[in-house]
Amino acid sequence: MLENTAIAFVGSGVMAEAMIKGVLNQKLLLPDRIIASGPRAERGQQLADRYGVRWTVVNKEAVSQASIVVLSVKPQVLPKVLTELQGTVPAHALVLSIVAGAAIAVIRNGLAHDAIVRAMPNTPAQVGAGMTVWTISDGASDLQRSQAQAVLGALGEEILVGDENSVDMATALSGTGPAYVFLFMEALIDAGVHLGFSRRIAQKLVLQTVLGSAVFAKESQIHPAELRNMVTSPGGTSAEALYQLEKGGLRTVLSRGVWAAYQRTRTLGGNNNER
Ligand SMILES: NC(=O)c1ccc[n+]([C@@H]2O[C@H](COP(=O)([O-])OP(=O)(O)OC[C@H]3O[C@@H](n4cnc5c(N)ncnc54)[C@H](OP(=O)(O)O)[C@@H]3O)[C@@H](O)[C@H]2O)c1
Repeated sequence: MLENTAIAFVGSGVMAEAMIKGVLNQKLLLPDRIIASGPRAERGQQLADRYGVRWTVVNKEAVSQASIVVLSVKPQVLPKVLTELQGTVPAHALVLSIVAGAAIAVIRNGLAHDAIVRAMPNTPAQVGAGMTVWTISDGASDLQRSQAQAVLGALGEEILVGDENSVDMATALSGTGPAYVFLFMEALIDAGVHLGFSRRIAQKLVLQTVLGSAVFAKESQIHPAELRNMVTSPGGTSAEALYQLEKGGLRTVLSRGVWAAYQRTRTLGGNNNER
């Protein structure tokens, strides 16, 4: 699928590294077909030492030979990078952006280029357990669609959606989701310490409980409400705890948090999501 493909990462941070790792682990490409660019030579050298990829501090140089150009800079840096790269992306290349909120129209106009994927991965991609939601512009070919699917599939699970608003919604749910889950885990660990467990034991109990519950829900395909009912005996401990959690507004506050993240995504993207 990716034979004769060369990938350039413009922005060599955490997510770029996760993608490089995934692509190499899946043996989709050899390291010398990957080039990473960013302002710090130390970071380029670090990626070269870890993965054997090539690097440069000149973004234009990275994209000049690429068939897939991954935009993996922070949203605030994107306008500058688009201006810098305008007219330099090879005509046959696919541009794959993971920049939160950045609409396809903004990238297309900024680069004067038509084949664009907009994707929202999440940080579990670093261990191959990511969830990526993506969409693709009308200007992309079937081959480019398959290439994007292969690259994003190397990060974990991926879903192709038909509109950019779904990518914005996914940014708030799965893209930002690990932050909610980690906060929940941290709060549970603290609750365990409050009970009297050592931090080490509390952390082990919470991590395995969260992991086990997720695997159980995924493998059994039983709705979480039903799984929760199975743990909740009449007059038992779960019923008592759930009563307090509901009284404290756990569902409402979670829903408000996700909604706020969605609004923030729309603001970051200038709410310009037409294709
Ligand atoms: N982290 C997440 O959970 C997550 C999930 C999904 C999508 N995303 C998206 O992924 C993108 C990257 O996020 P990240 O977490 O990987 O951030 P990051 O670790 O800060 O990576 C951004 C990289 O861009 C580099 N950079 C800065 N200015 C540049 C320029 N002018 N040209 C080229 N590179 C430049 C930075 O270099 P320096 O460090 O030297 O400044 C850094 O290495 C963001 O747009 C974010 O919205 C992130």
